[in-house]
Amino acid sequence: MFDSSIYKSRRNQLKQKMKSGLLLFLGNEEVGMNYKDNVYHFRQDSHFLYYFGLDYPGMAAIMDLDKDQTIIFGEEYTMDHVIWMGNRLSLEELGALAGVESVKLDNELSNILKNANSKKQTIHFLPPYRKVNQFKISEYLNIPYKQVPEKASEEFIKAIVAQREIKSAEEIAEMEKALDTTHRMQTTVMRKTRVGMTEAVMAGKAEGIAVSAGGNLAYPVILTKNGEILHNHYHGNTFQNGQLVLGDFGAETARHYAGDITRTFPVDQQFTQQQKEIYEIVLKAEMEAISSLRPGIAYRDVHLEASRIIARGLTELGLMKGDPEEAVAQGAHALFFPHGLGHQIGLDVHDMEDLGEKYVGYGEQFTRSEQFGLRALRLAKELKPGFVLTVEPGIYFIRALIEQWEAEGKFLDFINYDALKNYRHFGGIRIEDNVLVTNSGFKILGKPIPKSVGEVEGMRQAL
Ligand code: GLY
Ligand code: MN
Repeated sequence: MFDSSIYKSRRNQLKQKMKSGLLLFLGNEEVGMNYKDNVYHFRQDSHFLYYFGLDYPGMAAIMDLDKDQTIIFGEEYTMDHVIWMGNRLSLEELGALAGVESVKLDNELSNILKNANSKKQTIHFLPPYRKVNQFKISEYLNIPYKQVPEKASEEFIKAIVAQREIKSAEEIAEMEKALDTTHRMQTTVMRKTRVGMTEAVMAGKAEGIAVSAGGNLAYPVILTKNGEILHNHYHGNTFQNGQLVLGDFGAETARHYAGDITRTFPVDQQFTQQQKEIYEIVLKAEMEAISSLRPGIAYRDVHLEASRIIARGLTELGLMKGDPEEAVAQGAHALFFPHGLGHQIGLDVHDMEDLGEKYVGYGEQFTRSEQFGLRALRLAKELKPGFVLTVEPGIYFIRALIEQWEAEGKFLDFINYDALKNYRHFGGIRIEDNVLVTNSGFKILGKPIPKSVGEVEGMRQAL
């Protein structure tokens, strides 16, 4: 946890913004994998962590702004808990760590909320992403279960997004720590991958480094020879000569801040000519996109410029044709780059995505496009100092998609389908870094991880 003064000041800031009503924060519960007591790794809710910092299951809190009262709810450990799990601080001691004086047993939350509801006090709650919290809200506030998400408080959501998207110095320091561990994960995998190993061996090494640093993974490891499958979590293939390895993985610190880095490298000591040509285009798109970051620029425009760099590069190689600007305007390049350029990152790898990308990524000024490719863009809005975001362009050869578009005769003026026949087994390349928007521009967070062709090949050739 941070010092209690940090949680107090975060809550004060929220209080200034929200002014009245009752704010409800539900922490997370343990979840059984195959029976109740054999649980998944516990992950606390990020909003609860941000405002209260307490990393234990079964907790909740309210901020009653009308009564100017904050209460934390939880359980006291019994002797049974102590026997099976060891001792833990009392609720009062836990409250003190979060800077909250008033603590109550968890079973009192329901009555307090039912009482507030009966007095028509406005109760602000967030859209639940776990069914058990959706059920609790339905029960406590007497809202039909299915209507709970749509009844979430837009005012509460907007206040939290506005606060959490500006990272403070202590948060940036945590993200640097996450990236320090992620640096070790990425460089270990880049150095140690060999022909004949399975993807699982390297995925296990990456996960082991994250866990041994005292935290965990920020999201399930993507480590694959089939980089064209964007969120590929299958690790059963064996690496062979001529293949590419795409590794998209990052650590989460003990305080739960995330890193999210992607590198792509050859199984051999050098890229093939064909791999190098595609790699250089992705690298150019990534580096130029990063260089353009500054307060006030709309990330949608950065995404579109990265798309144009990709389209120009592929046109030079003969895989696309016609005017690259027009190809991007019509969405033809999305055959190769079907996802967005990046997203905000913080306590969550896709920061606050539970609150809705409409608020986190688009705000009032932007609406999501319906065009294939552009519609997958998670962050479009204007950047502010203190934002931390990912920049992650890629080029992929997705056989099923290429075959479908060719069969439909799609974008025949822009795509050279014949030339693509030589890329059937290529896979995909993505390069990703995490970047802080500063007052004057940007800062790439974390120690540099080999990225240029020379640096990557240098690491593949090192013993
Ligand atoms: N690291 C996976 C993603 O950003 O979706
Ligand atoms: Mn990412």
